Amino acid sequence: MKIIVLAGGLSTERDVSLSSSAEICKTLLAKGHDVFLLDVFLGFPYDIDKLEEVFTLPGHGLEIAKNVGTTEPDIEAVKASRPDQSDCFLGPNVIELCRMADITFLGLHGGEGENGKLQATFDLLGIKYTGPDSLGCAVAMDKGFTKQVFLQAGIDTPAGVSLHKKVKENSLKALGLTLPVVVKPCSGGSSIGVYIVNSEEEYKDALKKSFKYEDEVVIEEYIKGREFACGVIDGKALLPIEIIPKTGFFDYANKYQDGATNEVCPADISSDISDRMMELTVKAYHALKLNVYSRADFLLDDTGNLYCLEMNTLPGMTAASLLPKEAKAMGIEYGDLCELIIQKSLE
Ligand code: DAL
Ligand code: MG
Repeated sequence: MKIIVLAGGLSTERDVSLSSSAEICKTLLAKGHDVFLLDVFLGFPYDIDKLEEVFTLPGHGLEIAKNVGTTEPDIEAVKASRPDQSDCFLGPNVIELCRMADITFLGLHGGEGENGKLQATFDLLGIKYTGPDSLGCAVAMDKGFTKQVFLQAGIDTPAGVSLHKKVKENSLKALGLTLPVVVKPCSGGSSIGVYIVNSEEEYKDALKKSFKYEDEVVIEEYIKGREFACGVIDGKALLPIEIIPKTGFFDYANKYQDGATNEVCPADISSDISDRMMELTVKAYHALKLNVYSRADFLLDDTGNLYCLEMNTLPGMTAASLLPKEAKAMGIEYGDLCELIIQKSLE
């Protein structure tokens, strides 16, 4: 098969995407596919008349991939490096290249790559891509809206609200919340801009910092508990994985630094809790109108209550990522997981 692995973009998760995509690319090449790794924003500075040659280029573009660092990517530097100096999310020749492939594997995370816009564009252009459709991606990308959908569907989620930058009255009292709370960008990912807040002062500071990422944030009650994730493929839940950071919570550094977090799969929990988590994952997947694959994130409090935080519609696919580990615990190797995602996306 001719496959484009689409990577990069302009979100805060750009580096995570490059890392996921390099992994996907390597495994699909090893499976004998004709694969090309393409940065969606930078495109390919290549003569439009020679696009046919792309799939036979040595290295298949793998050189653009790098490891995830400890800090967020320098998006301004990425923008400045675009050959045509344009700000358009779709780089030069991206559409033409994706059209030549049998499928585009979305190795993107966050921003325009995961919020349904790219998916809708590809639908209109007849370009096949991996992962959920545009509606599910758009709804799941908004953590405040997701909360409403979860509540309607009877899925417990921490009590919380969305808050726009322009709203002047933003005291916790006015929002009906009490300390401690969590403040996070409405459409963020990889825990970037997420703050656990224990005082009014910290709350003000967290709002300021979180609003730097987006004009809308979500503020929710802080649930003290164990952290889990549960992947879902084609409507069937994988076995839950427990995330145990050595220090603090599962923030950006703990997510991507080797050895910073212990992950246990299958999670060491009763079969009752495991079954409930898997059921809730499938329920959330349907409530948000998702398809192909996704990953739910959960908290389990001391009294056995399970809270679904969100669904990730293009979950991490780096070597350290959760969904591939869950799949492996069920006997699905990484390469076969990528093939399964492609197969389900083409159905
Ligand atoms: N947003 C990151 C990539 C995840 O959910 O895995
Ligand atoms: Mg997320």
